Amino acid sequence: METHHRTSTIFSLYISISLLYFSIVSAFSPTDDYLIDCGSTQPTTTVDGNRRFTGDSSDLGSQFLKSTRTISLCDTNPSSPGLSPLYHTARVFARPSKYAFKIRNRGTHLVRLHFHPFDSSNFNTYETQFHVLANGYLLLNNFTVGKSQTPVIKDYVIWVDNEELVLTFVPSKKSEIAFVNAIEVISAPKDLVADVAMLVNTEKIEKINGLMKNALETVYRVNVGGRKVTPFNDSLWRTWVPDDEFLKSSDGSQKVSFSGRIKYQIGGASREVGPDNVYNSARVISSLNNLVPQRNISWEFPVVGGYKYLVRLHFCDIASISLGLLYFNVYVNGNLAYENLDLSSITNMALASPFYADFVVNMESSGVVTIRVGPSKMSMSNAIDAILNGVEIMKMNNSMGSLDGEICADSVFKNWPRRNFGGVVPLIAAMCLLGTALVVMHRRWVAKKSVGWSPIPVDVSEVNLNSEKLGINLR
Ligand SMILES: *[C@@H]1O[C@H](CO)[C@@H](O)[C@H](O)[C@H]1NC(C)=O
Ligand SMILES: *[C@@H]1O[C@H](CO)[C@@H](O)[C@H](O)[C@H]1NC(C)=O
Ligand SMILES: *[C@@H]1O[C@H](CO)[C@@H](O)[C@H](O)[C@H]1NC(C)=O
Ligand SMILES: *[C@@H]1O[C@H](CO)[C@@H](O)[C@H](O)[C@H]1NC(C)=O
Repeated sequence: METHHRTSTIFSLYISISLLYFSIVSAFSPTDDYLIDCGSTQPTTTVDGNRRFTGDSSDLGSQFLKSTRTISLCDTNPSSPGLSPLYHTARVFARPSKYAFKIRNRGTHLVRLHFHPFDSSNFNTYETQFHVLANGYLLLNNFTVGKSQTPVIKDYVIWVDNEELVLTFVPSKKSEIAFVNAIEVISAPKDLVADVAMLVNTEKIEKINGLMKNALETVYRVNVGGRKVTPFNDSLWRTWVPDDEFLKSSDGSQKVSFSGRIKYQIGGASREVGPDNVYNSARVISSLNNLVPQRNISWEFPVVGGYKYLVRLHFCDIASISLGLLYFNVYVNGNLAYENLDLSSITNMALASPFYADFVVNMESSGVVTIRVGPSKMSMSNAIDAILNGVEIMKMNNSMGSLDGEICADSVFKNWPRRNFGGVVPLIAAMCLLGTALVVMHRRWVAKKSVGWSPIPVDVSEVNLNSEKLGINLR
């Protein structure tokens, strides 16, 4: 009787949620959607994803390029036959130069920069060194693409609180050049980056806020137990790679895949957070001979030290035969990040319904981010005892607003003589000056005793970035 009652409640809940998710199937269409094929007079449509990139040498595309005396470069002898025409052209910069994109929808934006060096008698795009800035953030510092066979795509999530997003390319010195083959600037759906995550460290697990306003760089985006997912099958045109090379211990685990419908629900992960092809495959631990295996599946992701990383884990119970049978533990860097995770109750009693969890780890020195899933005290024999469907690891900007070194965006200009700055540096220099003034005023205010005057305060970059928040318009 009791059981019957409970079953029928679950059943009706299931039905109402089913109705809910059927009604929310609509394709995402970004408000800001700039796709630029740099150095090209023609638009290019990509085969994988069917997206139209506007040439920045065309009338329509040239409005975004805000600097003069740049060079468009064409590869007359493309190396591999399958290479997208996007990489047959590039724009080259011999001095600091910028693109500006009007932002209609302030907030989180996806920014992708495509680099594919090619032979040219005049420019060495393989070895040249340059920096890339996005508004106040330093994305790339002393960047060299090198001899890569495949295009190098840098993928960022950037909070834009201005009317425009300015991308600045700066050769590392006068003898070097900067270049880029293609640029994407796309407004992200509101739910892509939540403001809150759980900070995981050895002492404790605590909530942290303010995630949204960081610049993030995708370091890993992995489809666990599945195939590579290309922009064609991702509504935000991302690429997800298989997990094999990161898998450290897989004994007792198996890959599973699911051919049914993934039940996206309001309040859970949306299709933009993770596409069907990520949630319909996984790795699991399952009981054998009525015993819960005492094993974890573990993955290791090497990262550069000196940054915090946002670790997003994707779960979707595509393997259990019914609700309420799967309980497991999740470990991040050896710390218990989630105990007795019960996907059925988190997803309002639905199987195959996606859920994600965000964790932040502070990697003071270089090393690996370790992810483990394994049985918990509540795991049941004759059931699935752990699951993971996807992993994303994103580097967060440091306190200097940089994703690439202990250096603030304005200092990368220091090798350039003043007269060549052309519009970019006056703004940044003004911000630096203002920042210095604010710090000095603050110090005088705080410590009237005055211990001595330091002309360049160490924390100047933070003040620069804050001046935007104070609403001071420097233009
Ligand atoms: C960039 O590289 C140059 C050498 O090419 C070096 O002098 C400079 O210190 C580097 N800058 C940073 C910030 O690492
Ligand atoms: C997209 O996903 C479908 C379904 O999984 C698959 O059959 C197809 O090969 C994928 N296409 C690409 C281009 O990856
Ligand atoms: C799984 O990994 C965690 C964290 O490293 C460890 O504490 C736990 O004992 C492991 N469980 C098993 C069954 O090996
Ligand atoms: C990233 O930069 C922003 C300023 O734009 C700053 O508020 C934030 O604290 C930085 N993030 C970290 C982790 O230091």
